[in-house]
This record gives sequence, structure tokens and C-alpha cells, in this order.
Amino acid sequence: MFNFDERVDRSGTFSCKWEKYKGKDILPMWIADTEFKVAPSIINACRQQLDHGVLGYHLPSQHQPANEAVVHWCKSQYGWDIQPSWIVWTPGVCPGFNVAIRAFCEPGDKVLIQTPNYPPIIASPEINHCEGVHIPTVEQTDGWMIDFDALETQAKDPKAKVFIMCNPMNPVGSTLNQAQLDKIAQICTDNNVILCSDEIHCDLILDDIQHLPAGNHPTLQSRSITLMAANKTFNIAGLGASFAIIPDAQVRQQFNLAARGIVPWVNIMGLIATQAAFTLANDWHEAQRNYLIGNRDYLAKAINAIPGLKAIPAPATFLMWVDASALDLQGAKNVQDWCESRGVGPSPGADFGDEHFFRLNFGVSRSMLEEVVDRLSL
Ligand SMILES: Cc1ncc(COP(=O)(O)O)c(C=O)c1O
Repeated sequence: MFNFDERVDRSGTFSCKWEKYKGKDILPMWIADTEFKVAPSIINACRQQLDHGVLGYHLPSQHQPANEAVVHWCKSQYGWDIQPSWIVWTPGVCPGFNVAIRAFCEPGDKVLIQTPNYPPIIASPEINHCEGVHIPTVEQTDGWMIDFDALETQAKDPKAKVFIMCNPMNPVGSTLNQAQLDKIAQICTDNNVILCSDEIHCDLILDDIQHLPAGNHPTLQSRSITLMAANKTFNIAGLGASFAIIPDAQVRQQFNLAARGIVPWVNIMGLIATQAAFTLANDWHEAQRNYLIGNRDYLAKAINAIPGLKAIPAPATFLMWVDASALDLQGAKNVQDWCESRGVGPSPGADFGDEHFFRLNFGVSRSMLEEVVDRLSL
């Protein structure tokens, strides 16, 4: 019904992903947007809005259908009952975690972040005149997980005010179970730390695992900011529509004050696309999930068959974190150079905090993925 095998020609569209290697025979496998066409129901909804012909101001909190769509999605996907008033729209998840730091930290305070991690999260404490404290993500037999002992130790520092968590985690693709979220809730509560939970990848859980939003945890309701978006899952990131869910009125007010005058309103196309994604695209969402499972399993097997490369098939995201620490670089300057010399452009592991890794975006047609594997296997 939906053709994820289609190879859409994005050259010449000024797509950030494709511009990077313009004119070079390097397949771009880096930034986290997919190569898939957006669900027809979302395109139709956007088209209807365009056909209306006026693109004026819209205050996101007044756009009742978009807010109702978020409420409906949280209930249907995670069993989370939220109030429309808890939703704070932001033009991207990145503004969300940067505003959270400004809202709850003084210059010189400490912000806890997991590493390896999405580069803008790593950069956010310093951007906001704070100190980033790195909490390692450690490899275990069944995947990657936060080092809870390190988190507990660092959270005890009275200067630690905010923990920016990423669940599911980027780049490792792990998800938190109830016991793990309980532990984080306990650590944050005991140490008076605000939890800002970046859950942008939570609708991309491929295995049969229930996502547990931070804001739905009983002890986190008074100290959490949960950041979500249809952006990644429905490939509408370019429309810049995201939202923070903040159950506590005082926390919400502090967040809104920090955003005042700086963070613009989400635009109407982003609101419409999010509304359509959360109400009209369930079949597309499920079909994409199945396609991504096939891609992940194919890619993990192929990567693990290449001498010097190792990858754990992760339960979530369309991103694969590849360990190249045993790779024979054969004269290449580094791991990234090795990949690019073979015609593949992943996200450099160094940007995430580990130069011995690279991250592959497998949200692409199977034929493109096969080409990537062929090139890396040379
Ligand atoms: C963990 C994480 N947070 C945030 C973003 C970016 O979100 P946005 O484009 O909504 O700012 C990404 C994009 O890759 C991401 O992986």
C-alpha cells in the first residue's frame, strides 16, 4: 500500500542531508531524516491548508484540533492522560531542551547528559553558560544503558540542576523499562533535579516494547518536561513542530518565561502536519515500522559480517551505532574517512562523543541500504 522501496530523488532540493556530499559519489547516511515520502494523509492535510490560500499567524495553543490530536496520541500510544493546557509548542525539540536549561539553571550550574549523545544535546549546557557533566552509556550483554551509578553520584552535586535524558537514546537506540525509569525518577527526586526528557524517537520503537513517557511517571509529574514531536517518525522535521508536555503549572510557567521573546510560534503547516500524523496516519506508521524492522535486521547482520565492524540491533530508532574500534583503517585518516572513501557518509561518531564509532541512518529504501552494504564490504 505504501511504497518504502521507492527511491525519491532529493538531489537539487537543498536537503541538508544531500547537500553535504553534493557532486560526490557518497551516499548520505547521516542526519536523522528518512528517505521516505510523507504519508499521503499528511500531504493531503497540508495541501488543503495551502489551498485555503492564507498563511497568517496562528497561536498554537488556540489550534484546538492540533492540541486534541496530541492528547489523543498520548492516550492511544502510551496510555497517558494529559490536559491540553500542559502542551507547550516549540519549533523543534532542540529549542525545548535549551529553554529548559535557561529556565532552571543559573550560569555555572551543572547539566547532566548521557554520552554518546545527539550533538546538540552535548552542546546545550555550554551554549547556556552551564557545565555539561557526561554520564556514560555503557554496553551490556543486551544493548546499551545509562550508567546509573554515575548518574546518582553526579546528581548529588548541588550544582546539578537539570538532567537532559534521551529516551529512546540517540545514537544507541535503547529504551528505558519501568525499573530503569523508576530509578531515574528516584535519583531526580532525591537530588531535586529537573528531568528534561527528549523523547523525539519514542514513536519509532521497533520491538514490542511500551514507551514510558517521563511525564507520566507519578514522581516525575512535578519535575519533568517531556519533549516530543511527530518530526522524526513521520518525516516532517523540516516543518519544525514539536511540543513539550509539562504537567506542573509552576514548571510550565518557568519554562514559558525562559522562552519568552526568543522562541517563535510553531507555524500552521507544522501544526496541521502534526495533527494529521497523530490522527490519520496509523496505517502508514505501522507499515513504516515493519519496513524499518526489516532494514535494521538486514543491516545489523551485514555490518557484523564486515571484519572490524560490530553493531547491536537496537529496539528503537532508524539509527545504527556501529563500533569500528577493531577496524583496519588501511591508510584512512579515521573511521569517517574510511567510510567516505568507500562512498558512504555516516554521522561521525566523534560528533556524538566517540571517534571509534559511526552512526548509520537506515530510514532508506532497501536498495539504497544494499548499496551501502556493498560499498562498505569492498
Ligand atoms: C535526540 C534528538 N533530539 C532532537 C532532535 C532534533 O529535533 P528537532 O528537529 O525537532 O529540533 C534530534 C534529531 O535528530 C534527535 O535525534
